[in-house]
Amino acid sequence: MTILTQHPVSTATQAPTLRPRRLRLSTGLRSLVRETLLTPADFIYPLFVRSGNGIRNPIKSMPGQFQLSVDQLAREAEEAAELGIPAVLLFGIPDHKDACGSDNFNPNGIVPQAIRALKDAAPDLVVISDMCFCEYTSHGHCGIINLPGEEHYDPHLPEGYLLNDPTLALLGQASAVHAEAGADIIAPSGMIDGMVGAIRAALDGQGFNHVSVMSYAAKYASAFYGPFRDAAESPPSFGDRSQYQMDPANRREAMKEVAIDVAEGADMLMVKPAMPYLDILADVRRSFDLPTAAYQVSGEYAMIQAAAANGWLDLERSALESLIGIKRAGADMIITYFAKDAVRWLAK
Ligand code: PBG
Repeated sequence: MTILTQHPVSTATQAPTLRPRRLRLSTGLRSLVRETLLTPADFIYPLFVRSGNGIRNPIKSMPGQFQLSVDQLAREAEEAAELGIPAVLLFGIPDHKDACGSDNFNPNGIVPQAIRALKDAAPDLVVISDMCFCEYTSHGHCGIINLPGEEHYDPHLPEGYLLNDPTLALLGQASAVHAEAGADIIAPSGMIDGMVGAIRAALDGQGFNHVSVMSYAAKYASAFYGPFRDAAESPPSFGDRSQYQMDPANRREAMKEVAIDVAEGADMLMVKPAMPYLDILADVRRSFDLPTAAYQVSGEYAMIQAAAANGWLDLERSALESLIGIKRAGADMIITYFAKDAVRWLAK
């Protein structure tokens, strides 16, 4: 019998040379050890709806995105569903704005109309309704504003302050209207204290206990929402949102915000924006067991598009890298304007 000892067997307890590159040698090896995968089921596609027929208004600062009339929205949703995207997130641009954002709780308002059309066109597509007042109010703030002469005026609070509790009542009312139209998930995005509890109570009280709440639990006052405010025609006419959205400098505070929303009955959580807040996303993933979404917002989309249009970044690779980073940090779902493109790129 030959004993194969061509190489001297070392008896010394010598450390092996550490060579992680062994596992990067080939496409096959790299795919075997890949830790994070993107699939169409990860994505939620945001859509903007406005009145009219046959309308596809390009949004200048968000190449490839449109304000759509209801008929066009239905087509867009069918396309997303065919691509395997499970959900859309709906934003309305009403014809009529007023101090209390009444189109948001009008059963024939733009979003209820759109939800009914989506449910006809693509019954299995999950419809998430963004629940906020900034698109609907004449002043562009996310709720009722403290102004002398107005119904809820409180002289103890500064003029122009967003009144918390009167806003809660309207959020509850509007959520029930969107649920009645067929929304599967209500996603309150205004960072109003108590919004999840108020919406849960309004939904349960009106027979919609099967409708979920996805809370924009940790939403920062971010410059990266810039292009969205063109898209949704919702910039505040005075001041900014820093009295309700979070300070970008704060990390521990996000845990407090999320814990409150969990206690109030949120079914799902969200961190927003995504890329500048991956530490927050990782913290939320570690500390809470609820499904968590990350919102890659309009400015994140716009900066990749703009750099790509200049030839400075490769669009497909940088978009997919941004998405894999968000998933790796802990997102179960990613709200992204790249959703349809990403599905096509992943299928190549
Ligand atoms: C409404 C809302 C905003 C976004 C989602 N919901 C704007 C804001 O808070 O000013 C931003 C989304 C994006 O930038 O893509 N409250």
